[in-house]
Amino acid sequence: MIKHLLDIQDLSPATWETLIQDTISISKTSIDKLKERKIADNSNQAAFLFLEPSTRTYFSFSIAAQKMGIHVHVLNSHQSSLSKGETIEDTLLNLEAMGVRSTIIRLKEENILSHISKSLKTMSLICAGEGKTSHPSQALLDATTIYEHFNRLDNLKILFLGDIEHSRVYASNLKWLNWYNNSIYALSSNTKKLININEPNTELGPWENYLAEFDVIIMIRPQLERHTTPSSMNLSEYHHEFGINLDRFKKLKPTSILMHPGPFYPKTEFSQELLSDKRFKIYRQVYWGIFARMSIFNHILG
Ligand code: CP
Repeated sequence: MIKHLLDIQDLSPATWETLIQDTISISKTSIDKLKERKIADNSNQAAFLFLEPSTRTYFSFSIAAQKMGIHVHVLNSHQSSLSKGETIEDTLLNLEAMGVRSTIIRLKEENILSHISKSLKTMSLICAGEGKTSHPSQALLDATTIYEHFNRLDNLKILFLGDIEHSRVYASNLKWLNWYNNSIYALSSNTKKLININEPNTELGPWENYLAEFDVIIMIRPQLERHTTPSSMNLSEYHHEFGINLDRFKKLKPTSILMHPGPFYPKTEFSQELLSDKRFKIYRQVYWGIFARMSIFNHILG
């Protein structure tokens, strides 16, 4: 059992593997058997505090909660006393005093959840996205997608492609991928250089020369909402320089997969035709999202 899930470092590799196995196992569990996993009444009040927009994470946590008998109370910044200046910490302490047992929180600020979590006695915090640093439940559904396809979490060559400096998906995935013997490459739309993240000073050639080597390419959209200065690159340039178009897709080996956490910009990170290709796992990732979040609830509240 873990008390909070703020990022991957709250977990051990063994717990990570259990979460992945549970995600897969829950997906195969009948509705009748799922009733046995329902969260006890004294733990089944949850708050959703999404201070940044979300579709996938919000809905999948919400459906996961419903399936596990958890009552969700949604608090938004405009209608709550956050709009009157109450801090996030005080908000959570008040919810805790009312018996709310878990809060699923997304926020743009960084490095505050860890501090707040120390003030909480009976409430668990589950990070649904923190600034540029953390998105652990996304990493879990990504890991499950990779495990489903390769039946392993190691000995993979993985490329993160795009605006990685502003991406919490990149940050969280990097942490678990580094537990295992993986070769991780990154092509940043900021530096425009391909690097092997374990040997960042080694000069590598043009990224397209390496396309046939990767097992997994994880595309990252331009994270414009987190740019502090306007980007000098427009979306069509991004597509031209970093997008997986059909020509680039044809260079991949037949066993490799494409992934994307969503949302995406049309005709930017990839060509639209690829959406229906079975090697593009974007909707499979979303499928795993509900079961991954049920697995997280189970480990924290179960
Ligand atoms: N992948 C992801 O976090 O999507 P949302 O922003 O829609 O939740």
